[in-house]
Amino acid sequence: MFAYFLFTLLTCVAIWPLLLYARNPYFLADLSHAITLLRVGVRTARLRRRRPFRSIVDAFLDRVATQPQKTFLVFEESSFTYSQADSESTKVARALQQRARLKEGDTVALLVANEPQFVWTWLALAKLGCTASLLNTNIRAKSLLHCFSCCGAEVLVAGADLRGAVEEVLPTLSQQGVRVFILGEGSDLEGAENLSDKIRQASDQPLSRQLRAGINATSPALYIYTSGTTGLPKAAVINHERLWMTAFLQTIAGVRSDDVIYIYLPLYHSAGFLMGLCGAIDKGITVVLRRKFSASQFWNDCRKYNVTVIQYIGEIMRYLCNTPKRDNDREHKVRLAIGNGLRADTWADFLQRFGDISVIECYGATEGNAGVINYCGKIGAVGKDNFLHRMSCRYKLIRYDTEKEEPVRDSRGFCTEVPQGETGLFVAKIGERTPFYGYAKNRQQTEKKKLRDVFEKGDVYFNSGDLLKSDNEGFLFFQDRIGDTFRWKGENVATSEVADNLLVVDCIEEANVYGVKVPGHEGRTGMAALKLKENMDFDAKATYQHVKNYLPSYARPRFIRIQDALAVTGTFKQLKGKLAEEGFNPAVITDALFFLEDNEGYVPMTPEIYTSITEGRNRL
Ligand SMILES: *[C@@H]1O[C@H](CO)[C@@H](O)[C@H](O)[C@H]1NC(C)=O
Ligand SMILES: *[C@@H]1O[C@H](CO)[C@@H](O)[C@H](O)[C@H]1NC(C)=O
Ligand SMILES: *[C@@H]1O[C@H](CO)[C@@H](O)[C@H](O)[C@H]1NC(C)=O
Repeated sequence: MFAYFLFTLLTCVAIWPLLLYARNPYFLADLSHAITLLRVGVRTARLRRRRPFRSIVDAFLDRVATQPQKTFLVFEESSFTYSQADSESTKVARALQQRARLKEGDTVALLVANEPQFVWTWLALAKLGCTASLLNTNIRAKSLLHCFSCCGAEVLVAGADLRGAVEEVLPTLSQQGVRVFILGEGSDLEGAENLSDKIRQASDQPLSRQLRAGINATSPALYIYTSGTTGLPKAAVINHERLWMTAFLQTIAGVRSDDVIYIYLPLYHSAGFLMGLCGAIDKGITVVLRRKFSASQFWNDCRKYNVTVIQYIGEIMRYLCNTPKRDNDREHKVRLAIGNGLRADTWADFLQRFGDISVIECYGATEGNAGVINYCGKIGAVGKDNFLHRMSCRYKLIRYDTEKEEPVRDSRGFCTEVPQGETGLFVAKIGERTPFYGYAKNRQQTEKKKLRDVFEKGDVYFNSGDLLKSDNEGFLFFQDRIGDTFRWKGENVATSEVADNLLVVDCIEEANVYGVKVPGHEGRTGMAALKLKENMDFDAKATYQHVKNYLPSYARPRFIRIQDALAVTGTFKQLKGKLAEEGFNPAVITDALFFLEDNEGYVPMTPEIYTSITEGRNRL
């Protein structure tokens, strides 16, 4: 009797996972993801409790102690061990300490491209307990100056190759009392100090931990700039806890300690810096750093440096798929790709062409308080619902009115969740475990990202500005971005910043900027509807000159549409939705249209240009 009972019990136990698996083919992936999340949760809790606080630079120093001879950074033909990276960064720290009198809590702006000096300088600042403000190396003039006022930096460290950008703003910076240091040789610039000599002469004697004794989980570690809806960049405050959480993504994605990661995404964005560099330090792995993405060199680099993990944004994967096929396309050791924005068609192409690479698609904003991750490799999905994740991070998809550009409220004034399969706005509850720190010195923009009284009086949610939908298996799919920004070539562009720049051009009276979809491209490219001043013609040359000088290439409007009057809503908000839908087809639109031809400027749009764009012959 007992044997029979035992037999039945064992059979049930054996069959149970099978039954579960039949009902849910992702059961094992879900379970293993849940276990990883639990482990990360335990680590996070431990970090919170630990005194003194263990910051990412302490993790780096632990690696220096345990694996001094392991390669930390490979760049072009140079390579640096953990130990060498430690002494390089100490020298920078000592030079800065001496020349800039830096102390714990100071903020230093970094305007440096992807090169070892970036990493040494950041590590140096971290060793001194300073906050690094990571400036986008594409921005110039007014936007660049604005970045100083938001983070309160009193020191700027710039790469020698960005001397021109610094020179332009130097008089204003000097007036504001910002001290400027240039890295690299031959960079004598009146009003700026070159730091290379000082670094070379500095000692690499380890610095005392006391220098950063006051740093805790909530101290700001970094400012990372995101595109602002009012025009100028906003500085997202990344504190140490948040830095760790993003760095843990490598663990969640399955990166191992023997991996080699390839970082070519800009280090001033959270993907390259937090998920890439900080994640790599947490895992103690080797980083292959590249100045800039190159489609033709990508796989050669992966082969040359034995890269096993790559990061991506959707556009990059498409560029890779668009390169001419080669016999050695599958000869590489890349086993894992982590990133976001990969569309289903490119995803499938990529796997077919480059082999069995596990793609981990993630979704989340730099400043956001929640994200999702697709750990199942389901093509096209940005994330998957997981019961454990849901418990710690309460996100919802709510009904959204794209015409009025606001969430739909019911008779009691509350929002409603969309049913499965319907598109809704991704929002995440702001709470103790999912805080939203907002933007530095910008209350208004911080408030704008908060949605109040969502499901009950007094609750607050983070408004992602993204429309997603879910399917019956719990997968989430990205649909579109709303509001005043559009995404092109992996960068968010604020429509009002572009518009402000256009308004400077003499002939333009009003400008309405929006993003339009282009077949074969991720995101949207910029388009502007313009109202010209009375009796003036569109000055293509002046417009091109201005846009070229003041806007990074991804933000320049590729299409211009001239209108007699710009459509506005009852409350005088510019209407963008309809214009965006109408696009740039000269056969449909009767207004005059112009196209920004690379290196040429704005030329009148023709049916030929239109077809060459839609057929992918003219690559934007
Ligand atoms: C750096 O600046 C010092 C003066 O502060 C100057 O003597 C030296 O030549 C400069 N070095 C380089 C490489 O520009
Ligand atoms: C953490 O440090 C910040 C300054 O960086 C300070 O304002 C805050 O009070 C500290 N918090 C705790 C819990 O010590
Ligand atoms: C890459 O791996 C191969 C074989 O495992 C090895 O011979 C080579 O030295 C490695 N290259 C680098 C740059 O580590």
